[in-house]
Amino acid sequence: MEITQNNYLKLVEKLNEALFAYHTLNEPILSDLEYDESYRLLLNIEAMHADWKVGYSPTIRVGSEPEKKFETYLHKIKMGSLENIFTQEEFIKELSTWQDTLQAHPEVVIEPKIDGLALNLVYQYGILTHAATRGNGIEGELVTKNAKTIRSIPLKINDNHPYLEIRGEVYFTLKEFKQLNDYQMHHQQKTFVNPRNAASGSLRQLDSSITASRRLSFLAYTLYGHEKINTQKESLAWLKAQGFCIAEEIVSAHSLEEVLKAYESFAEKRAFMSYEIDGLVIKVNRFDYQAELGEVQRSPRWAIAWKFPATEVLSTLLNIDYQVGRLGAITPVAQLVPVFVSGAQIQHATLHNFDELERKNLLIGDKVSVRRAGDVIPEVIKSYEHLRTGQERPYIIPQYCPSCARTLVKKDALLVCINHAHCPEQMIQQIAHFGSRDALDMEGLSVQTVRKLWEADLMRSPADLYALTEEHFLKLEGFAKKSAQKMIQTIQRAKNAPPEKLLWAFGLRHVGLLTAKKIFEVLSWDQFLTADLSTLMAIESIGPIIAQSIVDYKKEPYFFQQLKKLKEYGFKIHETLKKEGSLKGITFVITGSFEDYPRARLQGMIEELGGKIGSSITSKTQYLLCGSDPGSKLVQAQEKRITILSLKEFLQMASNSSI
Ligand code: IVH
Repeated sequence: MEITQNNYLKLVEKLNEALFAYHTLNEPILSDLEYDESYRLLLNIEAMHADWKVGYSPTIRVGSEPEKKFETYLHKIKMGSLENIFTQEEFIKELSTWQDTLQAHPEVVIEPKIDGLALNLVYQYGILTHAATRGNGIEGELVTKNAKTIRSIPLKINDNHPYLEIRGEVYFTLKEFKQLNDYQMHHQQKTFVNPRNAASGSLRQLDSSITASRRLSFLAYTLYGHEKINTQKESLAWLKAQGFCIAEEIVSAHSLEEVLKAYESFAEKRAFMSYEIDGLVIKVNRFDYQAELGEVQRSPRWAIAWKFPATEVLSTLLNIDYQVGRLGAITPVAQLVPVFVSGAQIQHATLHNFDELERKNLLIGDKVSVRRAGDVIPEVIKSYEHLRTGQERPYIIPQYCPSCARTLVKKDALLVCINHAHCPEQMIQQIAHFGSRDALDMEGLSVQTVRKLWEADLMRSPADLYALTEEHFLKLEGFAKKSAQKMIQTIQRAKNAPPEKLLWAFGLRHVGLLTAKKIFEVLSWDQFLTADLSTLMAIESIGPIIAQSIVDYKKEPYFFQQLKKLKEYGFKIHETLKKEGSLKGITFVITGSFEDYPRARLQGMIEELGGKIGSSITSKTQYLLCGSDPGSKLVQAQEKRITILSLKEFLQMASNSSI
């Protein structure tokens, strides 16, 4: 590609389209590799021609220099809030007010009420120019840079209208929320109490690169300023057409019965939705009707929030356990009288950390409210002091590690056991992490299994996994011939893992899988072992904190002892390094499903070996990897006489290539 300003703009469009296809439509049009290559080219062009850079370039999405504080932003159109109702009777009353005032039976739109925080986006001539939080409804905080890091917020839209405001909710899906908290826990940073707090904390970061690293989402629900649009339904259709995400579950209703049916259906669906909702928002569809109904104080009278009953229930705090994490952080965990919360029995709930524990002012024996949201770990919200009987007693903050009895050390909100490699519980967690899916992928090696092996004196460190035999597993409860055999096979298979997986398996603080990948794109394993601070910091995305964490870790005799042992057991640390692109230049297309091999894993294998993934069959496709229930790609491949591989054939090909 010739480097001209015009081609630069085309590249920006192409990458924005690819991001939209990936994040909003869930239908990638570029492979990761193609995207990465184009993105790198874009970065290079912007480095050479800073004056060409446009405000809607995807490179903006990584965030930039930290701010000192947020500017305040005066909303052009005030951001109100909704009045809440909780019962059917209240809704019936509301509906009859609407009907009486309008002298009609208005159609209503029923939307999920997402539990996040409201964001106001301003688009001028199609370009996102301002993003502000609600604040007090009149003035909010200007968080434009941060909002631009959210992939589902378009930086540019096709409508060239001089001024439009779009409002919606910034939130975490439950999956992303769980991942964020897992990450925080792994890195000994504070976990978030719920998805809403996490969303608010992540959007209102002075350092927008932190916002960029958190996978926030945005759902749009309001459009202001478009003369041609006259109803909420039209607004939603317009928002969708412009590339915004809108809630998939939105329905409309013409009667009370239809609304009640929708309420029931949402109440059932709620537990299975990918994000947390705390109720429904019911809006009168026509804007002229909305105007007629008007507003009271800060709330429109044409919409109402019908909240679901709380997912909180009452229980009694029996005791507080102290759990030791992989890196030594102690987490207080509440032991409760078992209760049912949204369909599941709960006996334990997290209390996060010691600052949170203190803030909640709990006594053992207190009546407490417990909350569960989707598959997120249940948590204790608060205690009811007025229900105390005088029998309650204070909890004791532990001084010593419950696993190894070493004196605990206070680090910010955390209490930490620094006896790392010699603390049984930390090692048990560490070994389980070593075999976890993103690390060396030893399916079946759960914390419970590791604990049993530990208790049977069969294991003291990750490398000891390689001394285990089928007989050892057979002696454990829950293992039979077949499962024991499979366990040994998966442990053995991990010997071929690429270096980034091995490094991630050791679980260094601040070193994620992505960082590990970046390291081995540049360094060989041996170079990594001797790399100092400056060598590490020269690598893309490695800053002083990550580099220091690596350097400190490499000072530990434990790390080198483990590597030595692993090598003695035949772990292929060297061979796995320079398998530079044995599938290089080969394009694969995948269709159908594969038992035991998620697609992401197959794609990862192909890309690791230098191959490319195509999204459709073209003249450039060399192989179609075909699983069960293949799609139309199989016929297309047959027509084009493209070689079709079974999983077995593919794995054979990949394993020949990796050595
Ligand atoms: S419409 C006048 N629609 O709930 C405000 N709000 O108290 C009109 N929310 O501040 C807002 N889902 O943060 C609307 N589908 C939805 C919503 C929604 C969540 C939040 C929003 C708003 C609060 C209302």
